[in-house]
Amino acid sequence: MTSPIRVTGRRAGQRFDADRGIATEALLFLGDLDPEAIGPSIEHATHYEPTPVGDLDALLAHVPFPLAGTTFVDLGAGMGRALLLAAAHPFRQIVGVEISPALAAIARDNLAAIDRQTLACRDLRVVRADALDVAFPRGDLVVYLYNPFGGQILTRVLERLASGPRRDVALLYHTPVEREFIEAHPAFEWCGEAPCGAVYRVVRAAGVPVASRARTAKPTAPTTMLAPHVTSTPGQPNRSQPNPGSVDPSTAPK
Ligand SMILES: C[S@@+](CC[C@H](N)C(=O)[O-])C[C@H]1O[C@@H](n2cnc3c(N)ncnc32)[C@H](O)[C@@H]1O
Repeated sequence: MTSPIRVTGRRAGQRFDADRGIATEALLFLGDLDPEAIGPSIEHATHYEPTPVGDLDALLAHVPFPLAGTTFVDLGAGMGRALLLAAAHPFRQIVGVEISPALAAIARDNLAAIDRQTLACRDLRVVRADALDVAFPRGDLVVYLYNPFGGQILTRVLERLASGPRRDVALLYHTPVEREFIEAHPAFEWCGEAPCGAVYRVVRAAGVPVASRARTAKPTAPTTMLAPHVTSTPGQPNRSQPNPGSVDPSTAPK
């Protein structure tokens, strides 16, 4: 019998892993893992922490076009939790991009352990690369960020998305501590808000900054940022490497 008690947070993550025989629930700092393999982007990288179970669906609900047939791209895929959450939806393909070789290897192991017959999207892959270097797949995109890096890297990623071929692009931003970079960019338009983050889309004809557009509810703070079991978040500096591009959540835009 299903328990009437809803399990959330870290326990939900542990259950997610146990049900699938995988390992995604962890808090890891790149400086403690494989810093020598990462390159200059480590200065702007946040740590690894998986998307809380349930949060991705809350963001996907605001994507302003059908998910079927689009490609989901997780920039900073870590151990692949968000890839597996996305696979419950009929994406054409799901791609995880992860800068840490160690985390990318774990993500691949996790994907290999899953029975893909149970998934709505069975084409899942992990690319070991810096988000700055990847070529986005062709076709319509749903790009996901769980606050993987600071504003300097984010800005360059936004330029690549904005200047690509004409197509539908949604940008899902969990724990959006650097959201002002998106909202100041004329090619991005805010299109929805969940308690854990915001959703934007690329608008080609835009000339008006999103920040000046009419908006509905906006969270007063990124609510899923502070998991009870940790003392730092993907929005805070890497313990081993300074993270000058990130904003202290306490001073993040309200
Ligand atoms: C907060 S974790 C999110 C993990 C995963 N997206 C999830 O939600 O379960 C952020 C991840 O971004 C990765 N990352 C940081 N900078 C990156 C970059 N420049 N390119 C690719 N991955 C990066 C980190 O190694 C870390 O695994």
